[in-house]
Amino acid sequence: MSHPRTVLVTGGAGFIGSHTCVDLLAHDYEVVVVDNHSNSSPRALERIAKIAGRPLAGIHQLDLRDHAALSRVFTEHDVDAVVHFAAGKAVGESVRIPVEYYDNNVGGTTSLLRAMREHAVTRLVFSSSCSVYGNAEDRPLTEQDPARPTNPYAKSKWLCEQVLADVCDRWSDLAVLSLRYFNPIGAHPSGLLGEDPCGVPLNVMPYLMRVADGRLPHLNVFGGDYPTPDGTAVRDYVHVMDIAEGHRIALERIADASTGTAMRVFNLGTGVGTSVLELVAAFGDACGREVPYRMKDRRPGDVPCLVADASAVAQEWGWRPTRGLAEMCRDSWRFQQLNPLGYLQ
Ligand code: NAD
Ligand code: WQD
Repeated sequence: MSHPRTVLVTGGAGFIGSHTCVDLLAHDYEVVVVDNHSNSSPRALERIAKIAGRPLAGIHQLDLRDHAALSRVFTEHDVDAVVHFAAGKAVGESVRIPVEYYDNNVGGTTSLLRAMREHAVTRLVFSSSCSVYGNAEDRPLTEQDPARPTNPYAKSKWLCEQVLADVCDRWSDLAVLSLRYFNPIGAHPSGLLGEDPCGVPLNVMPYLMRVADGRLPHLNVFGGDYPTPDGTAVRDYVHVMDIAEGHRIALERIADASTGTAMRVFNLGTGVGTSVLELVAAFGDACGREVPYRMKDRRPGDVPCLVADASAVAQEWGWRPTRGLAEMCRDSWRFQQLNPLGYLQ
């Protein structure tokens, strides 16, 4: 099977999607984006074209669940493969409005699968999450570890994986790779693309960025009594450009896969654990100032430690992250400095 040339990227204006579009364009793919901008700005798409020095092959503002509109995108473009990022991703929100989360994340995926089947598109890379592992053990997680998702967001990702596995069993041409990312942070080195959450950030890196630029007074460190070396929770932070490259490699590998293979699942992480206080210190080094923080109680639902065993993807594809924590912090900070109001200015 030949390598895909035209790739449909759902959620291509979002954080990980936009970086992946840049990497795909840099490697001669034609890229078509579908996004409803429920959590992104159309300006991200302008920035993608600016970095790449050439335009996207198509931009379609629509909701994946609008099946007729989605199907027209497949009619208009000769799509070879799909990278499916579009989903809601806020854990707390998913607890508050679970129906909307299942509808968007699972319903968006089934609508996409129907359109792919109608148009005989048989290659799909799916955005899954380390959150499917739930309450992890105190050791790096392999893909064989059981899924024990603990909130509607994580359960929606796990449900999508199960739907995809079932559809692969039934539709023998379909090849699906599900990538479970750990904690993507960082930004494009140009400073033109990065993470631009709406409202007060919930995740640690965008929050740190706003403390460092003075818009928020201090970081609340959630929990200092975890069974970890410094008592704060440990995560596997991975540069978003490494994640983006992982998708391109996945597209190359999926093109090699013989038809009829079952869905494969891979972790994308570094295998390196970093505590919240280590991240605060690394970010302080990157921005050249101490970042104030206060110790707080644990955040409900958090686990002490989530670190990937990423050896499967290294062995099978040769994918290894090349960017360390200092680079992740430097790139995030550059984006923040050049875009204090995100994509708004
Ligand atoms: P993001 O919110 O920045 O990007 C998602 C994009 O999808 C947004 O542009 C949004 O407008 C769009 N979208 C959402 N629902 C849509 C719909 N129904 N139709 C069309 N467009 C829709 O999120 P991200 O951080 O880039 O995450 C991308 C994917 O990776 C998500 O599936 C997320 O669950 C997964 N993931 C993210 C992380 C993380 O920490 N960022 C970790 C693991 C997995
Ligand atoms: C990281 C660490 C917090 C904010 C999330 C999703 C998960 C996956 C990855 C999508 C934790 C601590 C945070 C703050 C803090 N995403 N923290 N103060 O929770 O590991 O994972 O992103 O699939 O599903 O849940 O990421 O950035 O929110 O937190 O101390 O203001 O930072 O307690 O230990 P998390 P995060």
